[in-house]
Amino acid sequence: MFKNSNIYIAIIAIFTIAIYSCRTDKPSEQLPIYEITKTMVDDSAMVVSAHPIASQAGHDIMRDGGNAVDAAISVQFTLAVCYPIAGNIGGGGFLVYRDADGTTNTLDYREMAPAAAFDNMYLDEKGDPIAEKSQNGGLAVGVPGTVAGMYAAFEKYSKLKDWKKLIAPAIDAAENGFKLTHRQAMLMNKNKAKFDKYNTDPIVFTSREWRGGDLLVQPKLATTLKLISENGPKGFYEGIVADQIVNQMKKSGGIITHADLKNYTAKWRKPITFDYRGHNIISMPPPSSGGIALAQIFGMVENYDLKSMVYHSKEHLHLVAEAERRAFADRATHLGDSDFYNVPISGLVDKAYLEERMSDFDLEKTEGSENTEAGDAKESLETTHFSIVDVEGNAVSMTTTLNGGYGSKLVVAEAGFLLNNEMDDFSAKPGTPNMFGLIGAEANKIEPGKRMLSSMTPTIVEKDGKLLLVCGTPGGSTIITSVFQAVSNVIDFDMTATEAVQSPRFHHQWLPDVLILEEVGFDSTLITDLNEMGHHAKFRGKLGKVEAIKALANGDLEGAADIRADDDVKGF
Ligand code: GLY
Repeated sequence: MFKNSNIYIAIIAIFTIAIYSCRTDKPSEQLPIYEITKTMVDDSAMVVSAHPIASQAGHDIMRDGGNAVDAAISVQFTLAVCYPIAGNIGGGGFLVYRDADGTTNTLDYREMAPAAAFDNMYLDEKGDPIAEKSQNGGLAVGVPGTVAGMYAAFEKYSKLKDWKKLIAPAIDAAENGFKLTHRQAMLMNKNKAKFDKYNTDPIVFTSREWRGGDLLVQPKLATTLKLISENGPKGFYEGIVADQIVNQMKKSGGIITHADLKNYTAKWRKPITFDYRGHNIISMPPPSSGGIALAQIFGMVENYDLKSMVYHSKEHLHLVAEAERRAFADRATHLGDSDFYNVPISGLVDKAYLEERMSDFDLEKTEGSENTEAGDAKESLETTHFSIVDVEGNAVSMTTTLNGGYGSKLVVAEAGFLLNNEMDDFSAKPGTPNMFGLIGAEANKIEPGKRMLSSMTPTIVEKDGKLLLVCGTPGGSTIITSVFQAVSNVIDFDMTATEAVQSPRFHHQWLPDVLILEEVGFDSTLITDLNEMGHHAKFRGKLGKVEAIKALANGDLEGAADIRADDDVKGF
C-alpha cells in the first residue's frame, strides 16, 4: 500500500525518532548536558561526530580556514579526550578522502601486531582460545596507529599547516575538563569493575561515581597531548610517552617494545571503488573488510529491483540478509592484511562472481548457514565515526577505534590514555569466533607486524562526478551492514540523510546464523514472517550510530547525527 513511498519513509523516520527520544538511557527528568543537533542543512561546511565538543572543534577549525583533513585531525584528538569509550590516541583507524575535484585516497592507521606476537599466543594448552587474554589487559594491545596516522594526514593534506592548533582543543578539554553526558557517566560507572580489574594504578575514570554534568579533567592526558603537540609522532612513539607505554606493558603482561613503537607506520592505500546503479562508491581496502564486503553486498543485490520492494518488507530484509550472509562467509575465508596475505580483491568484487554467488538465492526461503554454532557478540560494539565536508567540498569519512568499549580497559597510568584491545580482531584460531562472533582463517592469523582484519567502513558516495554522501558508523561486525543500509536508503529509497540514518536497521553476518532486527521500529510479525522463510530472526537493542552528510542538489549540505546516542552535527 505504501510501496516505495517517501511518505511512508518519512512516517517511519518520525515515528522512530519519537520512540528513541522516549527511550534514551537516561531518566526523563535528566536535563540534557549539551545542546545537541541531530539534523541540519547549511551551505558551507559540516561535521558530524559522536560528541558535541568534538564536532565543535572540527567546526571551529574549518571556520578558521582549515580544510576537512585539518578538522578531522582535530576531531580525532578531541574525541580521545571527550569520548574515551572509543575516541583514542591508543588505538587506530581508517580515513577515506575525496577532494573537491574527485581525487580519492585512503589512510590506514590500523594497529599492528607487536614483533613478539605469534599465531597461537591466545590458545591454552588444549589449543582453545582464551578470550580473556585477547580482549582485556596488556596482551590484548596492538601497536597504536592514531598519532602516526594523524601526522601522515597532516603532512599530506593540511591547509592550515599548524599541527599545534589542531591539537589545542583536545589539550584544552583534557586540562580544563569537559562535562560528561548522562550516557557517558552511566557507562563509565558500569565499567568500574573492569577498570579495577586491569589497572593496578589509580586512574581518572574510577576516581568517583560519575553523574551527567560532572567535569572530567585529565591532566596526565593533557601532558601527553602537549608532548605530541610539541614533537609530532616522536612525542608518542619515542621519548617519555614511549617509556610510559613500555613500562605499562611490562606491568600488565603486554609485549609492545620501544622498537614496535618506533617501527609503526601509517599507510596510504588505494581505495576500493565500485559502481552501484550509476553511483561511484569509495570505501576502505584491506586490512578493512569493509570496502570489499560493501562492494559484494551491493553487487549481489544490484540484480534485484530493490526500488520496487516495500521498504522493510520481509522480501527486502530477506534479499539483503542473503547477500550479507554470502559476503560474511567470503570475509571469513578470504580477508586479512593484504601486506601479508594475497587477498583476491578483484575476484571477490567481480560482478560475474557476485551474480554467481546469488545463483542459489531463493526469493521464498533461505537454506541458512551450514553451521549455527558460532558465538554471539558479547561486548559493547564501540568504535566511533565522523563525517566532514569543508567549504571547498573536500570530504573526509573517518572511523577510529579502541575495539571494544574502552578497549583493553588498560590505561597507560603515567600518560592518562586507554589502550586498544585490537588483537582480538585477529583470528586466534581458525573457525573460532572473536568478540563479534566473526570467524577467521589463515588470511587473518596473527603474525608479527601484521594488521588485524577490521570491519570499519568509512565511505563516500559520488554521483555524476559530484559528492553525494559521506557516512560511516561504529558497531563491530554490524558496521558493514549499517553502512550498506545508510547508502542503500539514499540510493534505492531516495531518503534524506536524516531518514537514512534514523531508520531502523537489521544485520546478518553468516555466523552466527541469526538475522538481527533493532527492537525499535520493526513489527514483531516481521520476525514471524522471516522465521517462516527459514531465518533465525530476533530483536536486539541498537545497531550502529551512523553519521552522515548528504550533498544536496542546490549545493547545500544536510548533516545527520544518529539519534541512538549523543552524536551531534555542527555546520555553517
Ligand atoms: N575493532 C573493530 C573493527 O575494526 O572492526
